[in-house]
Amino acid sequence: MKQIVSFMLLFTWSLFTSILLQAQDIVIKEAKFTKGDNGEYKNVAFDDSQWVNASVEKNLRKQKLDITTQYGWYRIHVNIPQSMLNESELKGWIRIHLPHIDDCDETFLNGHLIGKTGVMPRSHEEYSHEINYRYPSTREYLVNANNGIVKWNEDNVIAVRVYNANDQGGMMNDLVRITPVRRIEGIALAFDQQAFDPKGHTNIIIDNKYSCKQQGQVHVDIFDIDKQQIIHSFDKNISITKTSIIPIVYDKNTPIRITITYTDKASKKAVTATTIPHYIQTPKAPEQPRYNGTSVYGVRPGSPVIFKLAFSGNKPMTYSVQNLPEGLDLDTQRGVLHGHITQKGDYTMTLIAENNKGKAEAPFTLKVGNTIALTPPLGWNSWNCWGLSVSQEKVKSSAQALLDKGLADYGFVYVNIDDSWTAEKRASDGRIVPNEKFPDMKALGDWLHQQGFKFGIYSSPGDLTCGDYLGSIDHEEQDAQTFNEWGIDYLKYDWCGYYKVFRASDDRSHAAYLRPYIKMQQYLRQQPRDIFYSICQYGMDEVWKWGTYVDANSWRTTGDITDTWSSLYDIGFNKQAQLYPYAGPGHWNDPDMLIVGKVGWSSQLRNTRLSTDEQYTHISLWALLAANMLIGCDVAQIDDFTFNLLCNNEVLAINQDPLGQQARPLFKHDDIQIWGRQLADSSYAIGIFNVSDKDISINPNDYKEYLKIQPNTTIRDIWRQKDLSNDTKPCLLHIPTHGVKLLRVF
Ligand code: GLA
Repeated sequence: MKQIVSFMLLFTWSLFTSILLQAQDIVIKEAKFTKGDNGEYKNVAFDDSQWVNASVEKNLRKQKLDITTQYGWYRIHVNIPQSMLNESELKGWIRIHLPHIDDCDETFLNGHLIGKTGVMPRSHEEYSHEINYRYPSTREYLVNANNGIVKWNEDNVIAVRVYNANDQGGMMNDLVRITPVRRIEGIALAFDQQAFDPKGHTNIIIDNKYSCKQQGQVHVDIFDIDKQQIIHSFDKNISITKTSIIPIVYDKNTPIRITITYTDKASKKAVTATTIPHYIQTPKAPEQPRYNGTSVYGVRPGSPVIFKLAFSGNKPMTYSVQNLPEGLDLDTQRGVLHGHITQKGDYTMTLIAENNKGKAEAPFTLKVGNTIALTPPLGWNSWNCWGLSVSQEKVKSSAQALLDKGLADYGFVYVNIDDSWTAEKRASDGRIVPNEKFPDMKALGDWLHQQGFKFGIYSSPGDLTCGDYLGSIDHEEQDAQTFNEWGIDYLKYDWCGYYKVFRASDDRSHAAYLRPYIKMQQYLRQQPRDIFYSICQYGMDEVWKWGTYVDANSWRTTGDITDTWSSLYDIGFNKQAQLYPYAGPGHWNDPDMLIVGKVGWSSQLRNTRLSTDEQYTHISLWALLAANMLIGCDVAQIDDFTFNLLCNNEVLAINQDPLGQQARPLFKHDDIQIWGRQLADSSYAIGIFNVSDKDISINPNDYKEYLKIQPNTTIRDIWRQKDLSNDTKPCLLHIPTHGVKLLRVF
């Protein structure tokens, strides 16, 4: 019988109106709960009096009701008054709202299935993240109340069957609500960035989740953030069955805020959403050559030099070097220096590039000595995009895209494979071997080096990596040798599997944290090449205080980043605030990889969930922090907007400044944070961050001391690459929510 209709909805809460509770709504905070699985549990007559009481607001793990790799059931008893039906604007329907559920659910009302979200796996072996996992997401199930399922003015049983593969499990972070259906609640407003379109297009998408035609009025305001005025408004009457799309064309170099209000014609209830679509601040690079790379580069005596001359401009380009030291060769077509120098010392030279539009020269010092990584590493890592689905083909395609799209011309040269490259077993001689996704590591390394790239790889001091691939325990020396044979230039050494060794012993001394890292480094340093040592143990035992002792070139300071504001804020602002004394040439704090562009940690990629301005904040902050900047998206899919974020030579010059100072917070307030660092030429790089939920305008003169403004200083807007004003001409800076003004004060 087709009596029941269910809707499975994924809400983007930031864009959806918060619906205020109304008098007739029923709100439920607690349910009966049991672990396990039994079809009987859905039936009204089942006796659940022996079950425990569980909150629907807190996940099961927090309530010590963990159901990892198991099923569990909630039962909610509720009296539903018939008056609710009269209140419904969608005649004959009521709505059951459930909190976020980890991972998936099937929901029954009085024994009848009313909806499901995700797929319930038949066994844990069958579980797949893509098919079964539907968290975070609240559930909305509509019930046709005319079909006799709802028992008016009596006890009803809502039974929710849930499955959890790992993590928290169950319902959380909201309440169960039973409400009349209000038409306006079926309307969801969203914005679809078409960032590939160079014109600047966005679509307003109005979705009607209910199966009825809805009529209403749309009002759109377009507000110019720099001018602080509405530049365009319009109204439109619409009738929507499923989806209505309103295209907006705008000047992609201007920050605008689009606000849309949809008002239901009959009830006059309204929903509103707002966004700042992608806007591009970085001026287009000139056609003639321009040097964008580092001015200093460290190599140990006798180690291979692989250095790409990072010039942007029209191709083809030919390269030359004045004062080329003996031992080095220049590939004049690709612009790559290769060779060895055994004698310690500073070798100064001039890098030159020429094309059909002109010529550029840049001073450069090769420092042959004990310190490598004189500036933070720039490049790409496979994790934030491909996760465990990385392959040789995907690595090569990203490297090729770094060349084709021109990111290598800005110094992005590390190409790093993260987890999931090893075979299940070592060879009979104990040698680590790649799995079938990586047919030829040596050939990949040779190809990368020829193009001027550096080759990075990943391992763990434990028996397994975080993703359950082989680690290096008891094979450190052999692995270091293999890495050398493949031409590895960067090793990310990730603690993960070492937890097992650590927990099996009582040793919690400082030495116990250092031990696995010292061991590997001793063998890396025996190799006849420089291997950037990137240690990753999430900041335990204040790694920044001893990272140099294990001879690390960078250390992860926190757990894993993800593409949300809260993750960015916590890792970028909170956790780095006190770490500036520990960074410097050769050794850097690593707040994790970049989360702009198309990411996904799996074979399914999506646009980053960071807003336009959050992305500007992310890149500005990482530049100020002198952080490793490893692109975490699929480079082949980088669009104009993401390119503008990654390839602003003045932003990168802050990150790559040879003084190597990490920015520190100079001013902190609820809404504003000002971070700054001194640069080698005595100027200051300053970030004014709006960490509040509203747009703000500030007068730089009110923050003079933090912005290092003196009577004759020049303030340069680094994203726009334009001088702002002088001290006699105060101007207001308009900074959108979660956005930034990145300045250089000379
Ligand atoms: C850990 C690291 C991540 C990534 C994964 C791979 O979580 O912190 O950066 O390397 O392991 O499994």
